[in-house]
Amino acid sequence: MIETLIVTGGAGFIGSALIREALATGLRVVNVDKLTYSGNAASFAEVKNDPRCHFIQADIADAAAMRAVFEVFAPDAVMHLAAESHVDRSIDAPAAFIETNVRGTFVLLEEARRHVKSLAAADPQKARDFRFQHISTDEVFGDLVDDGGLFTETTPYAPSSPYAASKAASDHLVRAWQRTYGLPVLVTNCSNNYGPRQFPEKLIPLTILNALAGRGLPVYGSGTQVRDWLYVEDHARALLLVLARGSAGGTWNIGGRNKQRNIEVVRGVCGILEELAPKKPPGVSRYEELIRFVADRPGHDARYAIDAAKIERELGWRPKENFASGLRKTVRWYLENRPWWQAVLDGSYRCERLGTNV
Ligand SMILES: NC(=O)c1ccc[n+]([C@@H]2O[C@H](COP(=O)([O-])OP(=O)(O)OC[C@H]3O[C@@H](n4cnc5c(N)ncnc54)[C@H](O)[C@@H]3O)[C@@H](O)[C@H]2O)c1
Repeated sequence: MIETLIVTGGAGFIGSALIREALATGLRVVNVDKLTYSGNAASFAEVKNDPRCHFIQADIADAAAMRAVFEVFAPDAVMHLAAESHVDRSIDAPAAFIETNVRGTFVLLEEARRHVKSLAAADPQKARDFRFQHISTDEVFGDLVDDGGLFTETTPYAPSSPYAASKAASDHLVRAWQRTYGLPVLVTNCSNNYGPRQFPEKLIPLTILNALAGRGLPVYGSGTQVRDWLYVEDHARALLLVLARGSAGGTWNIGGRNKQRNIEVVRGVCGILEELAPKKPPGVSRYEELIRFVADRPGHDARYAIDAAKIERELGWRPKENFASGLRKTVRWYLENRPWWQAVLDGSYRCERLGTNV
């Protein structure tokens, strides 16, 4: 039975949503996060005083720190989300992606293996029940050439960007640790997430905040790239379902069956802003007029789309939000939570350091 959960990357966009959901289901959560530029203490501020929630500021690639976390908290499971996550940054500076996504995952796997070995001696059932859940992306599959095709759990890996390649490498490590050492692992590959508290370098929050400021809305190439969008809370629920009911060694694709072209996403945000924020910056008559087509990203995949049939069939998961409802909620959240993103834009969010709270 899972009572204590380590979540890596819990100060990030998906990790903070996952922690809120995990605490609501009664779990004790240890959030291990280095607080890089994309980690934000304000994203889990509302749960930081919950006695079942602990925060450790540490690098997952620091083996001594990870060993101490396993020894102090004796977790029943790890949900591993900590990563460098932005494709453009991986093109400009790939080293951090190898260090965190590949070497950091390796360090965690080794410490998890050590933990399970010590459990096996003391409490064999607890060792069998332990789970290492690795949270990955559909970008490992590369470009979907077939217009009507979908990524399934058996689609071969063909990553295009340094980010996708580093995540693919980490997926392979996780599966190898199951196969070679018998570590009980779970792997999930999810499509693009969106929702509250996403760092404003990603398409949807960037569009919202630039539009509100009257700045250009950059769209790569002609904006025809197709992505499959999932509301972040639906992803968090899927992850907890896989943890609770997925059998060790399994892989699940997670996606919202919400395929959209990037340009449609940007126009969708503009349309909602017309309604919810009709007072525009000086000189702007319609938000859409701010759209600017910019040179395409090198190696940009044209299409991703997930077949989520396995998680739907085996675990009964269904997303609660469709793209229209989720996008509206997201835009509304950014309009109602200016202090969160203003602190990100002016850099002051990086001054808040929680230190370790055990
Ligand atoms: N955002 C998406 O659309 C999406 C889709 C599918 C899968 N994923 C995966 O989900 C995970 C979370 O993505 P996200 O969008 O929340 O990312 P994010 O960038 O918002 O958050 C990443 C978090 O990891 C932390 N972190 C980074 N390096 C670390 C290190 N070395 N040690 C400890 N903590 C570190 C950061 O401080 C941050 O809090 C990633 O593994 C990503 O590959 C994301």
